[in-house]
Amino acid sequence: MRKLAVVSMAGALALGLSVIGPARAHAQSAALDFKIYCSRCHGENGKGDGPDAGTLKTKPRNFTDCAVMSKISDATMFKAIKDGGAAVNLPNDMPAWSAGLDDDQIHGLMAYIRKFCKK
Ligand code: HEC
Repeated sequence: MRKLAVVSMAGALALGLSVIGPARAHAQSAALDFKIYCSRCHGENGKGDGPDAGTLKTKPRNFTDCAVMSKISDATMFKAIKDGGAAVNLPNDMPAWSAGLDDDQIHGLMAYIRKFCKK
């Protein structure tokens, strides 16, 4: 009886973990991707004030600016990140990430970036 309870508890725990596991890992990796690849220009809080921002001719996009960000479609944003600024008529100060990030990572970053605008 006691053994059965332990087994079923372990089962419930494993089930619970497999349900929350992937979603959690994804959210974490978008935050980490942003920190590693994007924050040096766009800033940890998305304000376009990262440590490398001052070295560029173009000020990196401020993701907290809702008026500007709401005008960028998901398709354009995806292309800008994957193929770089020049692919969407922006300066090539915004690098292309197709070599370093896969499509899932880019979609994760898009969701992460959209959260900087708080209306
Ligand atoms: C070397 C500096 C630099 C890095 C690193 C960088 N960006 Fe940018 N980013 C820019 C600049 C500059 C712009 C252009 C801003 C403008 O023209 O107003 C830009 C623009 C953007 C835009 C706006 C695109 C549009 O259609 O308006 C998005 C989205 C973006 N970056 C996402 C990212 C993501 C995600 C990363 C990390 C994977 C990243 N950037 C890394 C400099 C950078």
